[in-house]
Amino acid sequence: MPKGAQGARARGLSAAAALKSTLIRWLREENSRKLQRLWQRAHALRLQHCGDTVHLRGLVEASSYCRRHCHYCGLRAPNRSIPRYRLSQSQIVACAHEAVRLGFGSLVIQAGEDPRLTPRMIEATIRRIKAETPLALTLSLGAQPLSVLARWRAAGADRYLLRFETSAPHLLPHIHPAAASCVLTRFEQLQALRSLGYEVGTGFMVGLPGQTFDDLAEDLLLLRRIAPDMIGLGPYIPHPSTPLVAAPPAPDGQQVPATVGMALKALALARILCPLANIPATTALAVLDPRRGRRLALARGANVIMPNISPPSAREQYQIYPGKACLSEAAGQSPQAISRAIRRMGYCVSKGPGTSPAMIRRLTICENPIRKGNRSHALR
Ligand code: 5AD
Repeated sequence: MPKGAQGARARGLSAAAALKSTLIRWLREENSRKLQRLWQRAHALRLQHCGDTVHLRGLVEASSYCRRHCHYCGLRAPNRSIPRYRLSQSQIVACAHEAVRLGFGSLVIQAGEDPRLTPRMIEATIRRIKAETPLALTLSLGAQPLSVLARWRAAGADRYLLRFETSAPHLLPHIHPAAASCVLTRFEQLQALRSLGYEVGTGFMVGLPGQTFDDLAEDLLLLRRIAPDMIGLGPYIPHPSTPLVAAPPAPDGQQVPATVGMALKALALARILCPLANIPATTALAVLDPRRGRRLALARGANVIMPNISPPSAREQYQIYPGKACLSEAAGQSPQAISRAIRRMGYCVSKGPGTSPAMIRRLTICENPIRKGNRSHALR
């Protein structure tokens, strides 16, 4: 994006303000010929740093119980309109074996913040999966105390996903009501995760009610500062049983639309700002555009797909947003069909754990601090 940034600098803006104005310009760009440049740049960086492989992660949705009241999420505690379920330890371990059978190199365990998924139960599950399979293991279990994160890391968990969802101070209180005081803020937790040696993933939603183009550009700048190993972002999909569905849009043409097109622009910009991250083509993109969502994401910076391998009954009940259940039933969405489609698109399906280039670089620097330089990768 140097051209726009140069133009902005010529108008007397600081480097940071220039970058932000370039981001906003791209986010507002609607000319498909001009957008080709953005898609090509993102794809070229993906090929340069991640090659032409697509990593497959088996996704297990372990519990739909959640103690939180997040205003966007169908799993929020006060939502009485959805059925709830919790997988047992042996069901989760069975999913891990299924991931191995399907040829996946890693497993993601995701759940609402369910107090009955106790630290001890998760720890035992991690130990079993690490002992019985060669899988890299990612946790996406929400905000947790430092001691718990340390315990799970010691048990063998490799990665942790925790989206910051939005960086906009005016949106945060509306989407994330205050957590209990013992819980770290999401930013503190991301910092703690990295110092514990996890590969760290974060990201945000595109098109939250009230989210402006300025806000979305700030989300992207925050990603750049965090420099995560994994980035998850997707369009906001209104859930009818959540308070956010009734929230007003930002005024005066400032509202970011919650569309596949806008999420793809944010994804391509995320790849350009964080070239060494693993970036999935997220489920929300596939829900809004089941035929093309994932394919377009893979051509615009994404290099990971997370097929859902939860037991079918669980998939129906994990209603973060509407449309997920239909997606799992749709033709072409089985893990095998997804692998075949990836090959047809001309990509290789990776067999290994799919560690991010960012983490590989960190490890190389630690092993060879003099030869490679010892740049700090603390969160900035
Ligand atoms: N629309 C889109 N994405 C959502 N998520 C939660 N609720 C919604 C929604 N209504 C995303 C959040 C969360 C991830 C698991 O799912 O970003 O981190």
